[in-house]
Amino acid sequence: MCGIVGYIGPRSCASILVDGLRKLEYRGYDSAGLAILDTRAMSAGEPAKLNVVRAVGKLSHLDDALREHPLVGSVGIGHTRWATHGRPTEANAHPHLVGEVAVVHNGILENHVELRQDLIARGRKFSSETDTEIAAHLIDIELANGAKTLLEATKNALSHVRGAYAIAVVSRKEPDVVVVAKSFSPLVVGIGEGETFAASDVPALLAHTRDIIFLEDGDIAELRAGGAKIERLLVHGDGAPERFTVTPVVRTPKRVDWSPSQAEKQGYKHFMLKEIFEQPAAIENTLRGRVVLETSDVDGTEIGLSEEAVKKIRRVVLLACGTSHHSAIAGRNWIESIAKLPAQVELASEFRYRDAIIGEGDLVVAVSQSGETADTLAAVRDAKRQGATILAIANVVGSAIPRASDAALYTHAGPEIGVASTKCFTAQLAALLLLSIWLGRRRGSLPEARAQQLLQGLVEMPSHMREVLEHAEICQKVARRQIYTPEARDCLFLGRGLSYPIALEGALKLKEISYVHAEGYAAGEMKHGPIALIDSQMPVIVVAPKDQHYEKIASNVQEVCARDGRVIAVVTKGDTSIAAVAQDVIEVPDADPDLTPFLTVLPLQLLSYYAADLKGTDVDQPRNLAKTVTVE
Ligand code: M6R
Repeated sequence: MCGIVGYIGPRSCASILVDGLRKLEYRGYDSAGLAILDTRAMSAGEPAKLNVVRAVGKLSHLDDALREHPLVGSVGIGHTRWATHGRPTEANAHPHLVGEVAVVHNGILENHVELRQDLIARGRKFSSETDTEIAAHLIDIELANGAKTLLEATKNALSHVRGAYAIAVVSRKEPDVVVVAKSFSPLVVGIGEGETFAASDVPALLAHTRDIIFLEDGDIAELRAGGAKIERLLVHGDGAPERFTVTPVVRTPKRVDWSPSQAEKQGYKHFMLKEIFEQPAAIENTLRGRVVLETSDVDGTEIGLSEEAVKKIRRVVLLACGTSHHSAIAGRNWIESIAKLPAQVELASEFRYRDAIIGEGDLVVAVSQSGETADTLAAVRDAKRQGATILAIANVVGSAIPRASDAALYTHAGPEIGVASTKCFTAQLAALLLLSIWLGRRRGSLPEARAQQLLQGLVEMPSHMREVLEHAEICQKVARRQIYTPEARDCLFLGRGLSYPIALEGALKLKEISYVHAEGYAAGEMKHGPIALIDSQMPVIVVAPKDQHYEKIASNVQEVCARDGRVIAVVTKGDTSIAAVAQDVIEVPDADPDLTPFLTVLPLQLLSYYAADLKGTDVDQPRNLAKTVTVE
């Protein structure tokens, strides 16, 4: 979700900034840019110049642009973008230069719509679609209105914004300063010998310093070559006598001892493991600005359907492939039970080659992490041609599927590097549940009290997910004992209701990264065939949280045990009956039955990860697979 860097010191900084961005390219590579202060003319009494170079695409394009337009100076900021607001164009690339200031930003300003309208009403002209440009205007206005320093102008400006940000700012008016600030998005400051750095992440700094200050939410810092002055900005609610207060803080640098590759993975052995642990934050990002607890509703502005259009929907058809298909199955169940709309889920690769009946009155929901999967894209184009309304649920902003759709609900889970999808799966679940609630409220099928329960449960979900992840070592032990054994050549995953797509997802994860054969099955179907496979060597992973299917799946567990199968059960904390017969039990916190998938999938991802790691497979880039499947 974007990487930012900053430098102030004696050295020429263009290559320092670009090298830093290269280490952050995993955070996004839709576009990149630098803003550098050229102070050469100052000795002759001229003001400093603030020069910006930006390019669309990977950093190599910025390299080319810098060869054509070299930037001179030793104070600057840089950015590599993963598009959220606005397409990946040069106009939307950072840094955003407004008047006296240039700004780079990682995050999302939630109140960008009202701020932009207000600024336009005050005569401000925008040259991009980004929320970041709003921050640049606000700071520029503060400087024009007499703020004495860039730090003061930035503090005043930030007191007007809500949301997540890590920003870095430079100004022609104060060319010996870089101001940085953090709220929710990551930001670190590196302390060197007579030079100071800033970056979204430690790897960008390791070539220059290992003395790192990890800024905390609310921190704002004035960086000079000699070090950092840090303050804590506390913005008060409307009506408070003071808009905000500021207190100086001391943050002592920590000496980090990471190798560069470890650092990119933030100490995790693989990107997949890092992304598994990023899931609570990914869900928070998906929910940010969309859950409206005050009205027990969802802000569905992006869904782009009028109340009247919602009433005309006759059916929802969910199209997806792979892991996204599994989240779509859960989405189908929620749309049926919450929005009370007929819903069906289709593998895009099959749907597009059928003579499927689709057209007006159908809302097609295309689910895709990459937004580029060829089969899903073709199915979407086909459905659109036949008159259906298309809503994309995608992670990569500006990708082909959202572009081919009528509207897009982005998951904002951040870049997913591991080929095996994890955090984007749970982020898709969150987006699909939000959609179901939004539809249900508009169709009158979801009572306010139930909507409130679901939304409250969603908001609390990240902390329950963290609780499961804190006990990851249990999954490691179970993987070693049950799956990484010479006998366990096949595994069966069983679930019912919302746990059925979780069983499918658990089996897919195990297959794709550990190369162990696995089947996901609806537990009620076991007796129609797969039960023949069960013997004392067959691990059967049963997803059995406390919900309306619990008793039925408990009976399936008994059937497996009666045939000497080895049951590994994912159950709700405090379960005693399945726990009494299963060989291994992994507990998840108690949750609303509609929300259990967010929790039960975590142990399955971890089991697969640890089984693959024990086998020594290439976890992040498993054989024969590609992250984005753009072939048919
Ligand atoms: O980018 P998409 O969500 O459209 O990708 C769909 C599948 O290719 C993808 O989910 C694939 O199954 C992953 N490797 C699963 O981990």
